[in-house]
Order: sequence, then structure tokens, then C-alpha cells
Amino acid sequence: MPFNSAPNECPFKIGHTPLTRFSIQIGDHQHELLIKEERLNEFGSIKDRVAWYILSRTIEAQGPVTSVVDASSGNYGNALACICERQGIQATIVSSPSISAYNAEGIRKTGARLVIAEAQPGESSNAARMRVAGEIAAAEGMVFLDQYANFLNPASHQNWTAPEVFAEGPFDACFATSSSGGTARGFTDYLKAHQDKTPLFLVEPQGSCAFVAPDDSDGEKLKIPGYGSQRRSTFAEITPPPAMLRVQEPAVLAAFALLHEHKLAEVGLSSVGVMLGAMQWLSEQDGPRSAVCICADGDERYVDEFEGRYLPSVPRADYDAAYAKLSPMIASMKQVTRANA
Ligand SMILES: Cc1ncc(COP(=O)(O)O)c(C=O)c1O
Repeated sequence: MPFNSAPNECPFKIGHTPLTRFSIQIGDHQHELLIKEERLNEFGSIKDRVAWYILSRTIEAQGPVTSVVDASSGNYGNALACICERQGIQATIVSSPSISAYNAEGIRKTGARLVIAEAQPGESSNAARMRVAGEIAAAEGMVFLDQYANFLNPASHQNWTAPEVFAEGPFDACFATSSSGGTARGFTDYLKAHQDKTPLFLVEPQGSCAFVAPDDSDGEKLKIPGYGSQRRSTFAEITPPPAMLRVQEPAVLAAFALLHEHKLAEVGLSSVGVMLGAMQWLSEQDGPRSAVCICADGDERYVDEFEGRYLPSVPRADYDAAYAKLSPMIASMKQVTRANA
């Protein structure tokens, strides 16, 4: 099996995802909000890139592999399981009880093994996944791809996602979230290497400590998969520390509902958080600006569980207040094509 890890040699429809443009009225200014639609990768998320990049480079370096194991909150595991199925490799995915029903079913459908890691007292769910994946690799002699600590994870974004995004710039600012920190670190490294001064903002809920200390530390569990993290990222050593915008989960859920009602972006919950961070930043500017958002996945992973799982996880009054506040801004959004931009 010839393995070539160069992004343009990827045998799947991964990469070259569209950048969709919206105009949005905030205060006196009409801004441009652009979304990088990673949901349109073949297996449905930005993690398709990471799974292919790590697997193909590992095979290039070590030779053919028959079985791999890795930890994932869901999207990466789904992508890795799909890629391994096509390549005839056995995959074991270690996830957490919080995995979406969509991703759990997607992984099982490929024939991969899905292991759910229970966290020990004081252990984050992310750390529990890493621990169990490492234990399985050691016990069963599988190749541990180790996406949470493997610098091929941020490298996939530095060398693949970010160049695609900035080829369509310039933009006044770029917005992303972190879970393992791969996207955040990869974009940071890309901008530094290209001496590109576009500011990068990470958007996370108050309780996330992926890159910097949380704004509050009441220890309440994060509700939205891939939106911030309760474990400090292995890739967090960045100087100066990344700029951070905090957007709470009730607002993300309200904006998700509003985007649906207006039939606007079909992106997932963490992506809606990123878009809200961009809107918050735009609202503080003294003139029209362009903001590009890295949108990790699609709404199909969340719609079925929105009413039963996500809505009850936040105080209803906070959701209602955010819904009322965001309503006019989201109603002003219009998709634009280059010709009429
Ligand atoms: C829904 C979602 N959003 C965002 C991310 C961010 O990815 P990263 O791990 O690169 O920080 C992930 C990663 O798993 C994710 O699943």
C-alpha cells in the first residue's frame, strides 16, 4: 500500500473545504463573518485531517501497521475508524461517556472497537481516555497514535488547514476553539512561521483550562464536546499565551437554535461558540472588519441530542436571556457570494 503523507496525496475527500461568507450587522457596522466549513470533510469534521495526517506519517515512518489505538472525544475517533476501515487496519477508539450518539454509532459501524473510559476521582475525562488508550496499547501491542501528545496533530493544521484558510485572506482576525489544542497550536505556529500578524483568538467557556487558567474554577463539567477542555493541552506552551475570549454554553446553545431557525450555518456546537466569540470581538470594533472562524464539525452530530441532552444541561433562564439578546444580530446575517460581497 503506497503511503504518501503529503496533504495533496490524501486518497479521501479531506481538505479544500469551503469558506462561506456572511454579512452581519452589529451596532452601526456591517461586518464580514467567514466560516471554514470543516464539516464538509469526507468523514465530517476537522479531525479527518488530523487522523489522516498522523496515521499516514506514522506508517511512512514505521512501515505498515495492522492495528492502532487512540483516545478521542468523538470526532477524531470517528475519522480514524473510517480511515482504518478503508485501509484494512483494526482500530480501537477510547472515548468517554460524553461521546455523542452520532460518533459512537459511526465508530461501531466501521467495525472498530469502542472503549468507554471512566474517569477516576479528580481525573478529567480527557486524561482518563489517554490513560486507558496507553494501557491498551501496552497490553495488546498496538500502535498508539497518541493524538493528544503527538506534535503531528498541530502540524496537520500548521501545514494543511491554516495554509488553506489564509490563502483566502487577509482577514482582520481568526477565531478557533480548543479541546486537545491541536488546531490552536497549529494555527499559532503557522502565523508565527509566516510572520503573519493576523490576531488569533481562542473561544472557550469560562471553565476551560486548555491554554490558560479558567476564569472561574467552580469545577463544573463542560457540557459541549470539543469546546474548550478541562485538561491543560499538551500543546499549550505558547509565548505569549494565546488571546482568549470566553463565551458561555447557554449562549452557544441559544445561537445554535437561532442559526437553525434562520436556516443559516449548519455547523456544530463548538463552531457556534467560535462564531459567537467572533461576533463579540466584532461588536467591539470601531469600523467594519472581517473575522474568519474555524468551524470544526456539523450540526448533524448535535441536533438529535439538542433537546434531551444539551438544553437541560444549562439554566433555562440563561438560555432564554441569551436567545433574546442574540436574536437581532443573528437575524441580520446573510450569506454572500464573492460577486455580491
Ligand atoms: C467538536 C470539536 N470542536 C473542536 C475541536 C478542536 O480540536 P482540537 O483538538 O484541534 O483543539 C474538536 C476536537 O476534537 C472537536 O471535536
